[in-house]
Amino acid sequence: MENTNIIFSETDYKEYLEKLVYLEKDRIFCRHNLEHFIDMARICVILCYENKVDFDKDLVYSAALLHDIGRIKEIEDGTRHEIASAELTPHFLAATKFSEEDKKKIISLIKNHRNKKNPDKSLEKMFYMADKLSRYCFRCPARDKCNWSDEKKNLTIKY
Ligand SMILES: [Fe+2]
Repeated sequence: MENTNIIFSETDYKEYLEKLVYLEKDRIFCRHNLEHFIDMARICVILCYENKVDFDKDLVYSAALLHDIGRIKEIEDGTRHEIASAELTPHFLAATKFSEEDKKKIISLIKNHRNKKNPDKSLEKMFYMADKLSRYCFRCPARDKCNWSDEKKNLTIKY
């Protein structure tokens, strides 16, 4: 988990995280905070085991830490956050020891984390599913106002 912890210890990363928490402090719907990132990473790992999909834990956690970081830009100027996150990611990966191939994979996971058409049994699909499954709809006070269909909501504990 060396690279995950390199990213997490970066001053820039901490500042982004704090800014995002501040910008979403009054948000009644799902927030994009560290708890969400870690929940998502853990669920992605479980899904990979369940679906027999190859994965690297350090790579999955690193991608999860960065996948919503572009929410700041989305709030500020409306850019879709998967695009903004993917654009910011190389900056946060610069200090890591990931190979160029791994960095490309992380960017692909982030870019596709809201893409419903990821191929079955791909790591991108597991990452996409983990993002949704990490939400606590079953205890959310804003559940009735949320635009997710009941089918999409996690109305029971699944992971
Ligand atoms: Fe997310």
